[in-house]
Order: sequence, then structure tokens, then C-alpha cells
Amino acid sequence: MSHVLLDNDGRPQAAAAPTGKDAASVAATQRNTEDMIVFRGVSKQYGSAVALHATDFSIRKGEFLSLLGPSGSGKSTILNIIAGAVAPTEGIIVLDGKDVSTVPPRERGLGMVFQNYALLPHLNVFDNVAFPLRIRGVAKSEIQQRVRNALERVGLTGYEHRKPREMSGGQQQRVGIARCIVYSPSVILMDEPLGALDKKLRDQLQGEIKRLHRDLGTTLVYVTHDQEEALNLSDRVCLMNGGRIAQLGTPDELYFEPVNEFVADFVGESNLIEGVVQDEGVVRVSANRVLKVRSTQGHAIGAKVKVLVRPEKIDIVEQMRAEDDNTCTGTIAQVSFVGGMTRFELTLADGATLLVKGISARAAERANVGQQLAVRWAARDAVVLRK
Ligand SMILES: Nc1ncnc2c1ncn2[C@@H]1O[C@H](COP(=O)(O)OP(=O)(O)O)[C@@H](O)[C@H]1O
Ligand SMILES: [Mg+2]
Repeated sequence: MSHVLLDNDGRPQAAAAPTGKDAASVAATQRNTEDMIVFRGVSKQYGSAVALHATDFSIRKGEFLSLLGPSGSGKSTILNIIAGAVAPTEGIIVLDGKDVSTVPPRERGLGMVFQNYALLPHLNVFDNVAFPLRIRGVAKSEIQQRVRNALERVGLTGYEHRKPREMSGGQQQRVGIARCIVYSPSVILMDEPLGALDKKLRDQLQGEIKRLHRDLGTTLVYVTHDQEEALNLSDRVCLMNGGRIAQLGTPDELYFEPVNEFVADFVGESNLIEGVVQDEGVVRVSANRVLKVRSTQGHAIGAKVKVLVRPEKIDIVEQMRAEDDNTCTGTIAQVSFVGGMTRFELTLADGATLLVKGISARAAERANVGQQLAVRWAARDAVVLRK
């Protein structure tokens, strides 16, 4: 059996880690007591295929962090490495100040919720939720109390005797969540928990998970490929691409200050306009058109850059005015009425396409295909991508 070596201060030593990183680097990761989970150079290879490139990041205590990204980008790999279900090829995992690289899953004090619920079909709801307590040898009277509390938290009081097959998908996932929170894990890990549910139920359970996190105050790591879900739920989002972190930041940072085109495209809709830095805050996009942008800091004059403008930051105006930062006109190539918002695709004079989104108006008042539209946007909403 594996165990953690302790040094003179009772802290775990790096010697137990697979890479043999020096003790100083582990001690350094432990200085910040606000971190719940720290990855230091953690990677995972399957044969010659790299599922996760060497990765460093930390998750704060009590934080709701989503791992977002396309299928195969390494989200579940990170979650399973935290859980201890997958051993990293290299690197150190620190959990609440302890190097757990060699600590087996059950001793890590984590709770896990899966997409397919993973309930035991022959056990009723009570016994499914009681299961983790029984294997931990908790006393019978305490089991009663804790299962009752957990079921109450997920709104399933009265369902104790149902079998999983007698419940809807949403109810089964509530049982999965109750079974996870019943033993008060220090970290909750969820892998696409709402992936099997329809949109309306997903929205409802998203709200419940958010509330649960607020009530429990537990660190929660949540895997999803749905950017809206990640933005809605999370304190911070870690966007993955091809086994690497593309960007880790608040929903605001990913949405309004994406570092590169991949992030801008994955999170929300975007206009990406190519150009060359002409002056501080000015990007030339064609022979007769320049953009005023928020900042060109970090890019030399003459550097090729991409400028992001979110479609909903572009206003449709009656008339172009000289005092506006950026204005142009275009011909409407397409209109889509998507509930509260209407989305216009404009073709500009130089052939470029510009997406514009605005609050919907009734059909009679709505501009239509073939019409000319004048638009404007502020320099502060034109962001030069960092990479
Ligand atoms: N057990 C495994 N054996 C071989 N390759 C794997 C295994 N598990 C995952 N992978 C590969 O690692 C990459 C990342 O997988 P995963 O972390 O599951 O992605 P995600 O959860 O983002 O969809 C994928 O290319 C996947 O095919
Ligand atoms: Mg996955």
C-alpha cells in the first residue's frame, strides 16, 4: 500500500512523488493556504498519445471551478487525476496542503458525481445514499440522520424506498448528488453531471447545483463541454484545448478578454478582425479603414493582430456620428430571430462579414435582408487578442 512520507514538521515529503521533484517546490506550493488543489507539472500519456501536457494550476478553497472544452481536450483526465482514479505520468498533486500523488482514491476525501449516475440498481434510494457511509463504517443512527439531511438538500424526502429505475433521469441525478454530499467530502468532483438530461431539466438542476455549492461552501470541480453552463455556474473557468489549458479565468475574463482565437470562438460568438497595429490604440484593418481599440499594449507598431468585437457590443444606429469610436455600414445578408435577441449578418463594403446582435423588435420594425444598416461600437469593446 502506498503512503505519504512526512518530514520533521509533519508535512508530506516530495520523495513519494513519481517525478522526484525537490521538497522545496512542494513546500512552496503549500505556502498558499488558500489553495485546495494544486497541480505541479502534471501530465498524462497513454502510450505515445498525450491526454494532458505538463500542467500547473491551482483551485482555491471553496471555489466553483469548471473544466470546459471540446470532447477529448483532457477535462475528465484532470478530474480523474484529482480523484486518484488515473495516475499521472509525471507531476505532483497537492490536496489541502498535502502531496496526495500516491494516496489512494478513498483516502483523498473526495466526492464524485458522474453523467450516468452510477447508482446501484438493486438498492433503493436510501441504501444508495447510505452506501458510502456504510463502507466507511459510520454508526447506524448517524447514517439515518445524514441520509435524511442529504435527501432533504436535493429535494427527495419521501423517495427513500424507490428503486433507481422508478425515477426520472433528473431524480436519479439528485440521488447521485445526495450520495456524494452525504459524507461531507472536502472536494466535490462532477463529470458532465447534466449531460444526459434535456435542456429544461438541465437549467433547473444547474440552479440547484449552484445553490448547493453556496450552502455547502465546498470546493467544486465541474466538467462540462457546454460554455453557457460553465459561465453560469463558475467562479472561474479552465478552458482546455488539446490537453493544455487555453485560459483559466473568471467567466468575465474568458468572455471579454480571451487570450486567443480559440477562447474567443469557444466562449460565445465573436467577430475577429485582422489588422496591423498602426499607433497606440489604433489598428488598420484595410487600406481605408482603421479601428480604435481598447489597448494595443504588448504589441509593437506594425505587428499583425486580431481584434475581437462581441456581436452584442455593436449598436445599430440611425445615423453615423463623427464622435463615435468605430462606425460602419453594411448590407444585411441574414437575419435570425432567436427569442429575445435578433442576430444580423452584415456584409461590409470591403466584403468582410460582421455579426451584430440586438434586442429583438417586432417584425414590422425589424430591419430585413438587403437593407443597409449603420452600426457603431466603442473602442473599449474592441479587444486585441494577446496571442
Ligand atoms: N484510458 C485511455 N486510454 C487511451 N486514451 C485515453 C484514455 N482515456 C482518455 N484517453 C484520451 O485522452 C484524451 C483526453 O481524454 P479525456 O480527458 O477523457 O477528454 P474529455 O473529458 O475532455 O472529453 C482523449 O484523446 C482520449 O481519447
Ligand atoms: Mg470527459
